[in-house]
Amino acid sequence: MRDIVAEKIETLERGEVPIYEPGLAELLERNRPRLSYTLDVGEAIRDAQFLYICVGTPPTASGDADLSAVWTVVDELPRDFDGERPIVVMKSTVPVGTGTAVRAALDARGFERVGYVSNPEFTAEGTAIDDFMHPDRTVIGSFRPDDGDAVERLHEGIDGPIVRMDVASAEMVKLASNAFLVTRISFINEIANVCEVTGADVLRVAEAVGLDHRLGPHFLRAGIGFGGSCFPKDSLALKQLAANSGYHFQLLSAVIEVNELQKRRVVNKLKKHLGSLRGKRVALLGLAFKPNTDDMREAPSIVLAARLAAEGAVVSGWDPIADGRAALTGVHIAGSALEALDGADAAVVVTEWPELREVDWAEAGARMENRLMVDGRNTLDPEELRAHGFEYEGIGRGGE
Ligand code: UDX
Repeated sequence: MRDIVAEKIETLERGEVPIYEPGLAELLERNRPRLSYTLDVGEAIRDAQFLYICVGTPPTASGDADLSAVWTVVDELPRDFDGERPIVVMKSTVPVGTGTAVRAALDARGFERVGYVSNPEFTAEGTAIDDFMHPDRTVIGSFRPDDGDAVERLHEGIDGPIVRMDVASAEMVKLASNAFLVTRISFINEIANVCEVTGADVLRVAEAVGLDHRLGPHFLRAGIGFGGSCFPKDSLALKQLAANSGYHFQLLSAVIEVNELQKRRVVNKLKKHLGSLRGKRVALLGLAFKPNTDDMREAPSIVLAARLAAEGAVVSGWDPIADGRAALTGVHIAGSALEALDGADAAVVVTEWPELREVDWAEAGARMENRLMVDGRNTLDPEELRAHGFEYEGIGRGGE
C-alpha cells in the first residue's frame, strides 16, 4: 500500500489506523504479514498484478470532481511493470468518461499491456468491513473481458453477485446509486417537513411506506440532512457532469437544495422557542456526519455552527470520537455531553450517537439554563425528555 503522506505510512507501520473505522485495526493486525506500506510507488507496484487507485476526488470550486490525485497516480506509474498484464483498478469515484481518458493516457505512454478496470466502492463508513465482505453487488467494468475476469477472480470468497459491464456504465452505477440514495433522504425530509405542518408523524409514515416491497425500509430516516465524504460531493459531481454534457438534472438539483435547507431548519426551530438567538447558548450533540465515524467532512454540524454563530449564539459541541476543533472554529468543544449542556438554552442532536440515549437527562436538564431539545435525528424518546421537563422538537413529528 502506498500513500504520499509519510505520517499515515508511519502510523500504519506501527500497526495503528489513522482513521476511526470499527474492526479495521484488528483486520490489519490479523493480516500484518501480508501487508506492507510505502511512500515509494516503484516499491508498491513491484510484482503487483493489480494496481488499485483509491484516492480522493473532492469537489473543485465548480462542483466537478477534482481528478488531480487520480492523474498524479497515473502519471507516476513507472515504466518497469512486472508481470504479464498488470491491471489498474479504479476504486475512486470518478465522472463517467474518466476510464476512457485514463485508458488513452496509458496507451499514449506505451502502456498498452496495462489493463484498466472500473470497480467502484460502495462501502459506507462505520460498516466498511462488513459492506466489503458482504456486498449487495460488486460492479466490474472493463474494456477487455479478460481484465474483468481477472478482477472477478480476485473477488472469489466474497459473497454477493458480480455485475459485469463496460467501464462508462460502471462509473455511472456509483454516481446513480448515490444520487438515488440522497433522493430518498431529501424525499423523506420533505415528507417530514410536510408532516410538521399537517400534524403527521414521519416515523410512523416512513415505517409503513418502507414496508412496501417495491420501496423497502432503507434510507427513509428523516433528519437534518446528509453529509459525509461521498453524498454531497458525488451528487454535485453528477449534477455538474450532466450540466457539462448539456443536460440539466432538475431532480438532483432539487435534492441538493432540499438538503441545504434542511440543515438550516434547525435554526428556525430554535428561534420558534427562544426568539432571537443573540447571546443564547446552544449545545450541538454529535459533530461527525454520522455515528461510528470520526469523519467531519460535510458534516451538518459545520453549517449549523456557522449559522448559529451568524445569529449571535454561543455554541458548544460534543462528539464521542470526532475532533471538531479544526472544522468548527469558535465552538467550545466539551469533553462530555453534560459539559456541553452546562448553562445551555437549547440542545440540538446533530448525530445520532448511541451514547446520547445513555445520557442522564434529569441531570442534563438541571445543568441547562432552559430545557429545549431539538432532536435533529429523531433518536431520543420524546416522552422521557418531556418527563424531565424538556420541550422536545423532532423532525417531522407533527403529531407529537
Ligand atoms: C455513503 C454510501 O452509503 C456508500 O455506499 C458510499 O460508498 C459512500 O457514501 P457514508 O457516507 O459512509 O456512505 O454514509 P451513509 O450511512 O450512507 O450516510 C450518509 C449521510 O446520509 C449521513 O449524513 C446520514 O446521516 C444521512 N442519512 C442516511 C440520512 O439522513 N437518512 C437516512 O435515512 C440515511
